[in-house]
Amino acid sequence: MKCRKCGTGAVIELRRHNAAFCAPDFLEFFRNQVREAIRKHRMFTRDERVLVAVSGGKDSLGLWDVLIEEGYQTSGLYLDLGIYDYSVESKAKCEAFAAAREVPLIVTGVADEVGAPVPVIKEVTRRPPCSGCGLSKRYLMNRVALEHGFPVVATGHNLDDEAATLFGSVMHWQTEALPRQSPALASTHPKLVRRVKPLYRLSEREAAAYAFLRRIDYIVEECPFAKGATSIMYKEILSRMEDASPGAKHNFLFGFLDKARAAFERAEAVSLQECVRCGQVTTGTVCAFCKLSDQVKRAT
Ligand code: AMP
Ligand code: FES
Ligand code: ZN
Repeated sequence: MKCRKCGTGAVIELRRHNAAFCAPDFLEFFRNQVREAIRKHRMFTRDERVLVAVSGGKDSLGLWDVLIEEGYQTSGLYLDLGIYDYSVESKAKCEAFAAAREVPLIVTGVADEVGAPVPVIKEVTRRPPCSGCGLSKRYLMNRVALEHGFPVVATGHNLDDEAATLFGSVMHWQTEALPRQSPALASTHPKLVRRVKPLYRLSEREAAAYAFLRRIDYIVEECPFAKGATSIMYKEILSRMEDASPGAKHNFLFGFLDKARAAFERAEAVSLQECVRCGQVTTGTVCAFCKLSDQVKRAT
């Protein structure tokens, strides 16, 4: 196997692109895909400060690494979910990454904000842990960005994540979720920052290869609550399709973005208000985060 660019021995084959690359040319390919994502969706400019949400995993730390190398003004945000050793270790990975590159990292504890860590939220709400966890993550990413004056939050969602989410939404015909499935969500209210996913063109395997070649020390374990999640099943199904037909995931996601997404955009915009309690954006009177934190505080 020879590198498509320089003809020396390749270290990785990308069947989807019908190509193989040596290490330096793969790194350049990876950065080019991130550049293309940022350019195509006008994600942010060099004058803007970008808040990178980092979980300690390969995707988000790899993304942060690319953005630092590209000269963007970035800070990291780590949300401490309080999930036993998993959170202790993933936080340590983020702190070590930030310290080695001398970039700022903001750490916010979900327990301080909601009143209890994710395992207790799970018990109190009697719902899958990922529901209270996901709600808290989205809310806190936005609020921390506003409080610190960042116009945009970048997450490490990759092609596999995005294709699996789309698959789930289509399986259940969640038509209200489909227009929100996008590599870049614009701000629709002064209190909502932009949300962007600069890795949406890159697969999980490519993100792992990038982190490995860049010697990024990341947490390999998944969240202990992720076991058995339907999103993992969707990823497995899509990966089997990808094995049989390279490019299947890419075609599924990109075909939707290019040809179908617009058809699901609702004509009438939902009216957004400010939560009477915390001032963050909601469609009701009190936002879902404040309701969750009330429920947790009553029960603990
Ligand atoms: P996940 O939902 O765990 O697949 O994570 C998707 C993206 O959300 C990651 O790539 C990160 O950008 C962000 N993220 C997940 N967990 C955290 C966390 N604990 N703190 C900050 N960002 C996170
Ligand atoms: Fe949220 Fe696992 S990361 S429940
Ligand atoms: Zn609120």
